[in-house]
Amino acid sequence: MGIRRTEGRGRLYESILDTVGDTPVIRINRIAPAGVTVYVKAEAFNPAASVKDRLALNIIEAAEREGKLKPGQTVVEATSGNTGIGLAMVCAAKGYPLVVTMADSFSVERRRLMRFLGAKVVLTPRALKGFGMYSKARELAEKNGWFLASQFETKANADIHESTTAQEILGDFKGQRLDYFVSGYGTGGTVTGVGRVLRKERPEVKIILTEPANAALISSGKAQDRTGDGNPAGSHPAFEPHPIQGWTPDFIPLVLQEALDRKFYDDLIPVPGPEGIAWSKRLAAEEGIFTGISGGATFAVAMRIAEKAPKGSVILAVLPDTGERYLSTPLFEGIAEGMTEEEAELSRSTPTAQMAAE
Ligand SMILES: Cc1ncc(COP(=O)(O)O)c(C=O)c1O
Repeated sequence: MGIRRTEGRGRLYESILDTVGDTPVIRINRIAPAGVTVYVKAEAFNPAASVKDRLALNIIEAAEREGKLKPGQTVVEATSGNTGIGLAMVCAAKGYPLVVTMADSFSVERRRLMRFLGAKVVLTPRALKGFGMYSKARELAEKNGWFLASQFETKANADIHESTTAQEILGDFKGQRLDYFVSGYGTGGTVTGVGRVLRKERPEVKIILTEPANAALISSGKAQDRTGDGNPAGSHPAFEPHPIQGWTPDFIPLVLQEALDRKFYDDLIPVPGPEGIAWSKRLAAEEGIFTGISGGATFAVAMRIAEKAPKGSVILAVLPDTGERYLSTPLFEGIAEGMTEEEAELSRSTPTAQMAAE
């Protein structure tokens, strides 16, 4: 093979915002079972490194189009991280102040990232779960006349996945076989937007939805209590804290409800957090594909499908973000800071530049 050459993207970008979307679909070459083809759509290639950059951009631009957001007006949102980071990137680029409310149970690097991108982060007690951060954001918006981004309810969320994520999948798989699309849900924007398009344009594709095994809200069959405006009236009874950050809040979001009502999934496969962590590690160490816990969990389900799928099947799993966002979480537990015994032995095996004995 000759040396690889690149030639630029053939355009100059007007703003960081123009780099959102068009993420690559990448084949899994070493850890997929023989006889099937598995691809991942790597959302970490977005500028703030997660799938949420898409909805962050559209929430702000839809509000601008509809006159709901005035120049300089503050934006506020409850978010476990990626939406906040995406909104912080968009608000920084467009000059809007941003306040994020966030339960103190989420990883510290997420808060620091948002502050680095110019946002203010108001912490809420973890005991009040997602519902606590959510009511705090609503109160702050009402009291101050701020624009509430409402990622769990806004039409702007699934719409951007319909007009970008889904179109990218159609384009990349044009003339190619695709049998399964695998996704988890946080707000449900990804599965709802992609579901709208696949059901119409590629009806042969089976949509596989997944959720945490210990917070299997949809599998429980219990409907979400809602207030008149569609907002959750309280925590869903099947919710338990789970390690898959970004997935399954403690209520069934209105954005996801459309996918449930319109049967945008053919199978629902709950996955335990530790299985997601194990697959995230394997994706990194054996494929060089770096994703977070939710990406590992989605991939775990893709692997279960791959084991049983007919020969020749093609599977696509969405990897929502980068593993770098999880340095202080169980994803990196057991990853040594100092040298392991094996590394120390390597060090001692040649004479120079050895570390002093402790
Ligand atoms: C890490 C992570 N994974 C998955 C998701 C799910 O995406 P969606 O909100 O489109 O359902 C999100 C967002 O909620 C996320 O932050």
